[in-house]
Amino acid sequence: MDKKIDDVLKKIEKLEKSQGFGSVPRSTGQFLHMLLLATKTKQVLELGCSLGYSAIWMALAVKENRGHIYTTEIDKQRAHLAKEHFSETKLNDVITLYEKDIFEVLANWNHGEIDFVFIDAKKEDYKKYYEAVLPLLKKGGLIVADDVGKFKEQVKPFLEKVNKDLCVVSQFLDVDDGLMLIYKK
Ligand SMILES: C[S@@+](CC[C@H](N)C(=O)[O-])C[C@H]1O[C@@H](n2cnc3c(N)ncnc32)[C@H](O)[C@@H]1O
Repeated sequence: MDKKIDDVLKKIEKLEKSQGFGSVPRSTGQFLHMLLLATKTKQVLELGCSLGYSAIWMALAVKENRGHIYTTEIDKQRAHLAKEHFSETKLNDVITLYEKDIFEVLANWNHGEIDFVFIDAKKEDYKKYYEAVLPLLKKGGLIVADDVGKFKEQVKPFLEKVNKDLCVVSQFLDVDDGLMLIYKK
């Protein structure tokens, strides 16, 4: 990896350690990066950007795949810092950051079918995000939801819904805070 990009990732890791902005651990970032490369994913939507840490990992893969990542952050201060990080990594040409509420972004979505969604915002709203995003996801697309092990109780309605849904297959991965992988048939 380019040293400048790794420096930005390390800077965000330090901020995470001292102030806790909710960034995924490095190993989850690496996993997302590898998954997007392996699936040759082009069109990514992230729900919950914070300082842009996971978005940078995914943007690295999407750039190689000649695709684009859209991400959302409602908190102005976090969005401002994320934008700085995207400029510093020079990945801003493959990232669009919406400083808006997730539901507003989804309601006005006009970028065609989505290949891959990363859910990492308010845990109690996971079920609503899933229901809103599923019709926008292509058949054969993937959803990865973070924190489903760590916040098991908060995401329970989401997990119950996924388990009942006949149009998807899913698998829990015990990586870091727990990832749910969902494939749309
Ligand atoms: C866990 S952090 C995201 C971390 C990021 N994915 C990473 O690993 O670098 C969740 C973020 O979602 C944002 N968020 C929560 N609800 C939101 C909403 N309705 N619309 C947009 N952003 C939201 C929060 O402000 C917070 O910064």
